[in-house]
Amino acid sequence: MDELSAQAILNGLRSSWLGRNVLFHEKTDSTNSVAVSLAQQGAPEGTLVIADEQTAGRGRLGRPWVAPHGTCLLFSLLFRPSLEARRAQGLTMVCGLGLRQAVRDVTGLPAQLKWPNDLLLHDRKAGGMLTELSAQVGRLDYVVVGIGLNVNVDAAQLPPQFHAASLLTELGRSVSRVQLLQRALEDIEARYHTLQAGLWPLQEWSAALDTLGKQVQLNTAEGVLDGQVEGVDEQGALLVRQDDGRVQRVLEGDIVLAGHSPER
Ligand code: BTN
Repeated sequence: MDELSAQAILNGLRSSWLGRNVLFHEKTDSTNSVAVSLAQQGAPEGTLVIADEQTAGRGRLGRPWVAPHGTCLLFSLLFRPSLEARRAQGLTMVCGLGLRQAVRDVTGLPAQLKWPNDLLLHDRKAGGMLTELSAQVGRLDYVVVGIGLNVNVDAAQLPPQFHAASLLTELGRSVSRVQLLQRALEDIEARYHTLQAGLWPLQEWSAALDTLGKQVQLNTAEGVLDGQVEGVDEQGALLVRQDDGRVQRVLEGDIVLAGHSPER
């Protein structure tokens, strides 16, 4: 098992501010909850909260996030971007792209993203992100992006309803969590600077999505929707062409079924 500690993370880390204020917990309820509370107390931008185990790990849409002790990456990053609140999705895009790049660089696996914030390995979910934020008069105050990545866990050990993948199961060997994390922090920091400079990462993000062109079934707050994914819009909403030809814009939802693009 590779040891996680603040010292191990800082040793050889090449980011200049992201992850440099690091709080490591052997066990905590949820790194996102800790990071949100630190954000409210004025913690600096770039703060990293990371744990070997969460007792109440949270996923999107009120779901739990489960990972056995000492096997996975479970961390949250605190940003204080000077961006309008409607641009918050940019942080999720930047973190998703950085995580994908880190997995590709460290393991060589063809990691992909799945709308809105999953990381896939060969069509199975190996990671997810949970973004929580606070805004005032239309501008972001803080954004916490929580990332869970199944690293050195046998995917068969995870609850079956997750249909999960892990790096260990894909590669047949374990991977250094410290190396993956350092690579992700360095990549995310560079992308964040570009975002802050006003460049919106939409093109790269949409190219990294596994979902484009596919026939999907989506669970949304309004009900189930079937159609073909046409693309994403400026804000990262999914554009789905239904069988009657109408295009629906979906800002929040879950793709439950994805197949290949139908023959025309
Ligand atoms: C999802 O796919 O539903 C999002 C999963 C996000 C899980 C991570 S693990 C670290 C951080 N702390 C949490 O409680 N959740 C996020």
